[in-house]
Amino acid sequence: MVNTVIMGQGYVGLPLAQGLANTGKQKLVLGFDVFERVVNNLNAGISHIDDISDAELATMIGQGYRATSDAKDIAHANTAVICVPTPLYETGEPDLSYVVAATQLIADNMSPGTLVILESTTYPGTTEELVRPMLEKGGRVLDKDFYLAFSPERIDPGNKNFKITNTPKIVGGSSEESTKRALAFYEQFIETVVSAVGTREAETAKLLENTYRHINIALINEMAMLCNELGIDVWEVVRLASSKPYGFQAFYPGPGVGGHCIPVDPNYLSYEVRRRLGRPFRFIEMATDVNTGMPAYVVGRVQNILNDHSKSLRGANVLLLGMTYKPDIADMRESPSAEVAKQLVEKGAITKFYDPHVEVFKHHGLVIDGEKNLDAALKAADVVILLQNHKAYDLDDIVKKSKVIFDTRGVLRAPNVVRL
Ligand SMILES: NC(=O)c1ccc[n+]([C@@H]2O[C@H](COP(=O)([O-])OP(=O)(O)OC[C@H]3O[C@@H](n4cnc5c(N)ncnc54)[C@H](O)[C@@H]3O)[C@@H](O)[C@H]2O)c1
Repeated sequence: MVNTVIMGQGYVGLPLAQGLANTGKQKLVLGFDVFERVVNNLNAGISHIDDISDAELATMIGQGYRATSDAKDIAHANTAVICVPTPLYETGEPDLSYVVAATQLIADNMSPGTLVILESTTYPGTTEELVRPMLEKGGRVLDKDFYLAFSPERIDPGNKNFKITNTPKIVGGSSEESTKRALAFYEQFIETVVSAVGTREAETAKLLENTYRHINIALINEMAMLCNELGIDVWEVVRLASSKPYGFQAFYPGPGVGGHCIPVDPNYLSYEVRRRLGRPFRFIEMATDVNTGMPAYVVGRVQNILNDHSKSLRGANVLLLGMTYKPDIADMRESPSAEVAKQLVEKGAITKFYDPHVEVFKHHGLVIDGEKNLDAALKAADVVILLQNHKAYDLDDIVKKSKVIFDTRGVLRAPNVVRL
């Protein structure tokens, strides 16, 4: 029987706690969080994560799960997993303050022999150079007083096919013994565990995965902008290229990138390359440039559409459909729709939105209440922008009731539709 404490009960930490609790092999699965409201709600059976229902949380509680904000509880565990946020500062530099705070809590409270695993996405070297020295403080020795590993999280919120147990997990320890123990820990509940030669390779593998997507999305976004000028339908181009059974993977253009993995994580790699090698990681910087420019491009295209209808953006009624960064979930983190809305408002457009997953939209001081009556909102809009294609939308009906639609997802075809 093992006891585990998971530091951070967000999109990553709570599903991990579920995976562990569901094994039935854990006496205690502690979900530690500094946010007391989250802790109280979790203990009351109320989940704040889309992927975990209240009923699933109740099952977890029956299997030994408990949330806590009492750091003394960390001493009950023999494995501590860190799943705290790793955002960027306003300056674009990695903000590891959450990782430092969580590691300090573990260092101050852990029992001898605890296995510590960092899951938060970060730049190569963090486990060895930041976490390890903090755990060694006071004379503790690796492989005797504690064990240490890095295992990148690959959770994909909203993905119905790949959950924590059937998504292969990479594990790289600070020593052979640490790797062995960390592998054994994940093998309890994950079907495929992949051993890495060290922590740095495991850290970099995660950044490679995210950078690969970031760059390919930027490539297709740039392609979309050029195709538009050349009068070529980029969506048809991707469909045709996708018929090749090898050597091509389809990526689709859109109004920008959202969530954490793509807009934030590759910056951890480019930051470290610049800091250590004194030169840029050119592909990442170029991709960031293209992807962060997409909301402004969308606004520019909408301005042109209105112009074709002898209208200006200032004073126009614009209705946004879909504010979240992915379809069918409520997650607004880094959503490019927020930037589209902000720029529309700045240009004087009367900006409204309808999203079955979002009640109120808040971004940089801008607060907009969601429309309740879609038919009325469509009727009032001079232009509709489809930013996210939620299943809940009846697209045929929307096309019928709109004057003109700018479709950033390539799902509509009709005389009143303009595609990205
Ligand atoms: N969400 C994803 O899709 C995803 C996917 C892969 C990797 N990741 C990575 O996983 C990490 C966690 O991301 P997330 O999406 O779960 O974040 P999140 O914001 O959903 O949750 C993090 C939780 O940590 C808590 N926290 C903050 N400081 C703490 C501390 N000192 N001790 C304990 N808890 C603390 C917060 O209150 C919050 O509840 C990040 O590094 C992220 O890059 C996220």
